[in-house]
Amino acid sequence: MAHHHDVQLPEQQQPAPAGPDEHPLVGPAVAFVRQYHQELPGAGDAAPRVREVLAEIERTGSYRHTPQELAFGARVAWRNAARCIGRLYWRSLVVRDLRHLSGAEEVAQECFEHLRLATNGGRIRPVVSVFAPDAPGSPGPRLEGPQLIRYAGHRQPDGSWIGDPATGEITAWARELGWKGGQEPFEVLPLLVTEPGARQPRWFELPEDTTLEVPISHPEYGWFAELGLRWYAVPAISDMVLEIGGVRYPAAPFNGWYMGTEIGARNLADADRYDQLGVVAEHLGLDTSSERTLWRDRALVELNRAVLHSFQEAGVTMADHHTESDRFLRHIAQEARLGRPTPADWSWIVPPVSGGLTPVYHRYYDPVDPAARPAFLPRQGLPAAAGD
Ligand code: ARG
Repeated sequence: MAHHHDVQLPEQQQPAPAGPDEHPLVGPAVAFVRQYHQELPGAGDAAPRVREVLAEIERTGSYRHTPQELAFGARVAWRNAARCIGRLYWRSLVVRDLRHLSGAEEVAQECFEHLRLATNGGRIRPVVSVFAPDAPGSPGPRLEGPQLIRYAGHRQPDGSWIGDPATGEITAWARELGWKGGQEPFEVLPLLVTEPGARQPRWFELPEDTTLEVPISHPEYGWFAELGLRWYAVPAISDMVLEIGGVRYPAAPFNGWYMGTEIGARNLADADRYDQLGVVAEHLGLDTSSERTLWRDRALVELNRAVLHSFQEAGVTMADHHTESDRFLRHIAQEARLGRPTPADWSWIVPPVSGGLTPVYHRYYDPVDPAARPAFLPRQGLPAAAGD
């Protein structure tokens, strides 16, 4: 390996493409270490750490982040998440360093502990748990489902669904593996963990104390509670890879708190999810004979009121879309004062109800750079489906 990297690399975050004899980790690793030392003035001069990292890559083919680098990297990955409206609090992300773990049993137990810490009795805390990275010849573990908590979806012989159609495939897989799922509409799926070297995941039922759920009722309509709708408190994405300084952490589940519309305007409302607008409209006695009566819109607003009301009643953190939009613009302003752009994906940032009522609708954003790192990346390198 060339020695000139020690002092000669220009002070920029995207280094020149790797030379033919250069290890592919060198460029991203050096860029990350420099960014770390640039943003954290207390961290001092980058040069000694750069030399150390280069030597470690040369010796072992990889390198280990310090716990401080890991925490910084995970927080900046959140800050770089162009689809996330909730980034104001990126500095407060709790980073759990679990890099010594890759066994299915240990990973599952720590995912459960993640949920307990994140739930925090209803005062939701943003948390990421970082398990073993992919290393040369030694991959890390992986979580197969899209979130730590998800409801099962069973397709019926007549083509209808019991539960969440979004999880049809993972539900079928869990059953193949021997999970005995019943036929309930809100049944929590087991966690599927594949440990390094294993051909199949193992499944683990979530302990009761890990899954706080909120029954949905309405502030005015008593019949609403009888619809039997509910949702879980903690959205914890488990199928994205955390990439920091060229190192990939394939199991790094992270959570924030819910914004009401994710549940009220998507999970419970979408025609290909729980599809509840017709039922709600019927109970409201709305005229559904024509789209022009806006019965869908009216039912949607009441469903969203119910979701916000219910989480509030249950003492579980949840943001409404007006407040979260305000916070996001504050985040952009705060970042701008620090000289940083806030790349954002308009189509994900604007909420799925009342878009034009929120300030995030009425502007454009800094363009998204798919090469920005650190980052949470879709596992397959394919962009995730819109609106998840
Ligand atoms: N939209 C997803 C869901 O409804 C969760 C995505 C992450 N959301 C969040 N508030 N951190 O389950």
